[in-house]
Amino acid sequence: MLKVANIEVVYHSVVLVLKGVSLEVPSGKVVALLGPNGAGKTTTLRTITGLLDIHHAQATKGSVLFGEHDLLQTKAHQVVGCGISQVMEGRRILADLTVEENLQAGGTMEPRVQVAEDIAKHYERFPILAERRKQPAGYLSGGEQQMLAIARALMCRPKLLLLDEPSLGLAPKLVAQVASLISEINSDGVSVLLVEQNAAMALDVASEAYVMENGKIVLHGESEELRQDKDVQEFYLGIAKAGTRSYKEVKLYRRLKRWLS
Ligand SMILES: Nc1ncnc2c1ncn2[C@@H]1O[C@H](COP(=O)(O)OP(=O)(O)O)[C@@H](O)[C@H]1O
Ligand SMILES: [Mg+2]
Repeated sequence: MLKVANIEVVYHSVVLVLKGVSLEVPSGKVVALLGPNGAGKTTTLRTITGLLDIHHAQATKGSVLFGEHDLLQTKAHQVVGCGISQVMEGRRILADLTVEENLQAGGTMEPRVQVAEDIAKHYERFPILAERRKQPAGYLSGGEQQMLAIARALMCRPKLLLLDEPSLGLAPKLVAQVASLISEINSDGVSVLLVEQNAAMALDVASEAYVMENGKIVLHGESEELRQDKDVQEFYLGIAKAGTRSYKEVKLYRRLKRWLS
């Protein structure tokens, strides 16, 4: 469904940040994109949603296809029309508007009957949003704002939802709530590309995952398989002894060790 192939992205015409990234989100799946800060996860999402130009970046190589749409040739405002919706890093709700106005803002392109229907559905799913419908969204807690941001992104009834670190800054209980919400959304038929630093949570929700480091995909596999992977455990799940080495360094180290022994 979504096919990112061999993408290179350059910021300010000089800094090469994505160095040949390829990934796919098959229809109906939740796919995780994991990796440390600065790996290029957000840049990958910007490439998909046409937001590179406003960040002074440019895709210099590769392709991004979504069904029959060539997304590198699609303007940011048209991407929603292709069936893709995004929740950006840091939630970005409209703090001064009410909860209900935030939801309406997510459905401005949709028929009014559908908007009312969807808002009712979200209120049922999140009673707290219904309770606070007339209050400024800025008064919601961090977890509630994340729920609102996700609900708003669903107002345009996307086929593919892109989530940029939805668990960031949330308490463990709320992270679990966000995780089950993502599963629920997916069982409604929406495909999801879930960008996360919280690998434990993401591998629970996603059926497969890509691990990105320094602008490259360094690992790809079924979630279960990655959960068993010693390196993933060490660097991204914090199960094994924590280290300060990068994934690449360990690979080199292991290769060297094999070579020497
Ligand atoms: N607007 C920008 N201008 C220049 N460099 C940027 C910009 N945005 C991100 N970068 C750089 O691109 C790299 C990847 O960033 P990003 O995609 O935000 O990573 P992640 O989301 O994985 O933390 C980082 O080195 C970052 O400094
Ligand atoms: Mg990011």
